[in-house]
Formats: sequence, C-alpha cells, structure tokens
Amino acid sequence: MPKLCDTKNELHKVLKVKTQCLTSLRASPFTKKKSTHQQINKMYQIIDGKKISEDIKLEIAAEVAEFVAKGGKKPCLAAILVGNDGGSETYVAHKVKACEQVGFDSVLIRFPETVSEIEIIEKVKEINNDNKIDGLIVQLPLPKHISEEKIIETINPEKDVDGFHPINVGRMLAGMPCYVSATPFGIMELLRRFKIETAGKHCVVVGRSNIVGRPMSILLSQKGNPGDATVTVCHSRTKNLAEITKTADILIAAMGKPDFITGEMVKNGAVVIDVGTTRVSSAETKSGWKLKGDVIFNEVAPKCSYITPVPGGVGPMTIVSLLGNTLKAAKREIYA
Ligand code: GUN
Repeated sequence: MPKLCDTKNELHKVLKVKTQCLTSLRASPFTKKKSTHQQINKMYQIIDGKKISEDIKLEIAAEVAEFVAKGGKKPCLAAILVGNDGGSETYVAHKVKACEQVGFDSVLIRFPETVSEIEIIEKVKEINNDNKIDGLIVQLPLPKHISEEKIIETINPEKDVDGFHPINVGRMLAGMPCYVSATPFGIMELLRRFKIETAGKHCVVVGRSNIVGRPMSILLSQKGNPGDATVTVCHSRTKNLAEITKTADILIAAMGKPDFITGEMVKNGAVVIDVGTTRVSSAETKSGWKLKGDVIFNEVAPKCSYITPVPGGVGPMTIVSLLGNTLKAAKREIYA
C-alpha cells in the first residue's frame, strides 16, 4: 500500500500542475496592467478558474486517496449523453477525463438522438438501483421529444450530483444540505477563494435559467460568506437593462448571448463573472470554432476590479464542482 504522501506526489504529476499558494496566485502573473486604460482603472485581476480548478482537483484527489486508503469505495460518476451535439460531447469528455484525474471511476452511457423517453427513464432507474454508481448526470439539452423535467425527476435525489432535481433545488432554497448546481457552486467558490466581498453588495444576475441564473441569485442572497448580497435578477423582458447592470458591484452574465455585455453597461470597479460559453465559428482555431463569453472582455476588463476570462474562468469550475458533489455522494455527506 503506498503511503498517502507518495500517492499525493503521483497525483501532482498526473495533474501536471505546480502547487502554488493562493497568495502567489493573487499576485503578479494574473494581474494585468493595461496602459491604454490606466485612467479608468489601473489594474484588474483575472479570476483564473483554470488554476483554481486545478488546485481543487488536487484537494479532491487527496481526499479520494484518503477515503480509499481507509477502506472506502472509489467514487463513481455515471453520465448519460444523448445524440452527437458537439458542445455536449466536449463537456462530457471533460467530465470523464476529470474523473480519471482525481481517481474516480466513471461510466459513460450513450444513446442515439432517436432514443425514446422511456428508454432513458429505464436506464436512469437502473442506475438509481446500482450500488456501484454514486452520482448520475444526464447531459442537457436533450432532444425535443424528451422531457428534461421527467428525466430529472426520475433521478434519485441522492445521486443527483447536478443538483437539478426539485428535491435538491427545494433544499437549496431552504438552506438545507443538498447538491448545488455545479456552475453556481463553482462561481461561489471563486468568490470565496478570491475573498471577494459580497455582503451588502448589489449583485446583478443577467439570466434566469434553472441551471445558472436562478440558483445563483438564491445563493448570493442567502446568509453566509459569500452571500448576504442584495440581488437583482434580469432577463430577456427586463426594461432598461443597462441602467440596472451599471449599478452592479458584482455582475453575473449568464444569458448565453455572446458579446452582450459592453463596457458601457458596467460600473467602474465592478466584479464581472462571465458564464457564457457559446461556440462560434473561428478561422483562428484548428477545430474551426472557439468559445465566446457573454462579455466583451476587451471593453469591460479595464473597468473591472476582477473579471473571469472565457475560456478558463467559470467553465473549469463547473467540472470540479461536479467532482465535489460526486465525492460528497460517495461519502454520503448530504443524505446519510
Ligand atoms: N448542460 C449545460 N450545463 C450542464 C450541466 O451543468 N449539467 C448537465 N447535465 N447538462 C448541462
């Protein structure tokens, strides 16, 4: 049996990251000085979600090693992927790879686009009853002929590591232990690790989806740190959107509209979190596409105190939050 420290050293190699303490992270390499914008704001800090997510993977890997060394079972995540949507394929591939990096088992179950709703429901029920599997996600969106609500409601809330089941959503609303949806949880973790003050701040969340905007607004307004914020939720029917976003101390852009948030919509010194990850065609990349955020980075960053980039900001945090939930499921931390 290898000693835990040996295992940890191996994990460091596997993850190919150098351990850096957060204080050094917050210092120069990630601090951009933009001479052209110095009159507006001397500096802004990039919230480097990729680096933080690698730190968290190390933490999770160490916890898994310790859990297994004490006789626990390796955590196991099952993912159901329907069809061949390029974005979904990429996200699920990243999730499976991340499982391997931290020492989880994973099972990928694929269905063609033409699969029936009942076939997926049957598979979900089978996984609900499979003791080897701790957590289950069904990658969204699903084809139009399948009800996402029905599928999500079929997942056992104890295995719902996406935190989409109404039981987990309800428990989150009530401030009870639950699986929290991975993207909002990841954003809360970024705010926590960068020690960004949220208490009493005005947070504006643009977007009201069940996956990001709505849970984000709840978490930010709940008691705690981060939390205790005054939250405004904006959406496609909001009037005078720019007037509202301009009052945000913390702006969460989560509407999935590339380049929607312009410099004029942001207050000086704001913290801007860009959740957008739209695939747009690009002649600059081999794949022919690149990810675009909801925020025009070059216009907005010089006005900010902190900003997340796309890619490398919120995206990697979503994946590690899912890993965190799966570890909690394996350890029966939420539902004992
Ligand atoms: N589609 C977009 N984001 C997510 C997510 O966090 N989980 C699942 N299952 N599907 C998604």
